[in-house]
Amino acid sequence: MKVSKVLALMPNAARARLEPYFEAMEILQEVKDPRVMKSLGPAGVRGLLLQRGKQGVPTRIKAHHSAYFDWTYPSDFPEMLDLYRRAKDSQWNAETDLDWRTSVDPMSPEVNILPAEFLNYEALRDAGVRLDGAEKKRLTADIVSWMLSQFLHGEQGALFAAAQVTEAVQFFDGKLYGATQVVDEARHVEVFHRYLDAKLNKLYQINDNLFVIIDALMSDARWDMKFLGMQIMVEGLALGAFGMLYKMTEEPLLRDLLRRVIQDEARHVHYGVLALREHIRNELSESERREREDWCFEVSLLMRNRFVAYEVYEEWFSGLMNREQWRTVVYSSPGLEAFRRVMFRRLVPNLREIGLLSDRIRPHYARVGLAKYFEGPAALELTGDGMIHELETSPRFSSKPPESPGMPTVMEL
Ligand SMILES: [Fe+2]
Ligand SMILES: [Fe+2]
Repeated sequence: MKVSKVLALMPNAARARLEPYFEAMEILQEVKDPRVMKSLGPAGVRGLLLQRGKQGVPTRIKAHHSAYFDWTYPSDFPEMLDLYRRAKDSQWNAETDLDWRTSVDPMSPEVNILPAEFLNYEALRDAGVRLDGAEKKRLTADIVSWMLSQFLHGEQGALFAAAQVTEAVQFFDGKLYGATQVVDEARHVEVFHRYLDAKLNKLYQINDNLFVIIDALMSDARWDMKFLGMQIMVEGLALGAFGMLYKMTEEPLLRDLLRRVIQDEARHVHYGVLALREHIRNELSESERREREDWCFEVSLLMRNRFVAYEVYEEWFSGLMNREQWRTVVYSSPGLEAFRRVMFRRLVPNLREIGLLSDRIRPHYARVGLAKYFEGPAALELTGDGMIHELETSPRFSSKPPESPGMPTVMEL
């Protein structure tokens, strides 16, 4: 009997408790490549089954990389040195450069922190939940807190990954640049935390899938996997998400904060592409390259299909509807769907640029609706200012149905 049928026979409360475990098993079974399983499997058990990120106590993750010293201090990567110079010139102070006196009210009818049509309330009604105007506003505010909380947790991962990569990378110019990224990430942790703490008064726990990715790359001994996981995957996805939120929100402090973070992140992704392009094309064997290509695809699936605000669901709707119904709400919500689409816009071209989008893997990305990004501009062609300009001048968010209604959902994969 299929798992979904077994679950359907259970009372709501038991089902709500068991569903996440069955889903976790399903996710782990989806990983086909045994080498990818070796990397993601243990992290998956810790994140999805044991929910290590949600125990309310600090998590210790063993790092296995080696620090790489070079006592000759070579000038070995001019483009990285250039990034280092630009990063030094572009530092900003989160305490004084942002106007923290701005009063933020996510319930305000005048300043929409997200567009009113962000969620699909009809789908909620179909699932048996009716919300009044104030509840809708509060749910939208919680979705913002959830997204910013995930950004914050991702930034903590980025802070530690940047520190590890600075130790482990073999380019000396890359180490100097890496130190600026550590400072950037600390500032990002600072701003997202302060905004959540002082303005929204809410912090959500880390999403299990995000935990799995962070756990996997923190504990991987290979520096290029850390780079790939953090600089290309997590930061690439985050950059798309930051840009979308920047476009959607009317709240001025959040816009200013995101604009500055996007400009920093553009450098980070640029650095990741520079380092990995060189390494993947010249240092790795074909079999090692394929392993990384598969790893990226699995991580993309984890993020694309499972990043569905279950933490908000558990707080609002657990017991009222099941997780599958919630996924239907999420997949049919114009705002969340726009996020899911745009997240890959920055990532996929970078995978191509570093040599991880071969003809072998392209059909898999195409199957999950991501082929339209194959030819987009990679990080090396984009500056932070250019990205902001593009966001300012492209059409505003509208609640029209997604541009490719035929895009498969997780149920169809
Ligand atoms: Fe960051
Ligand atoms: Fe970053």
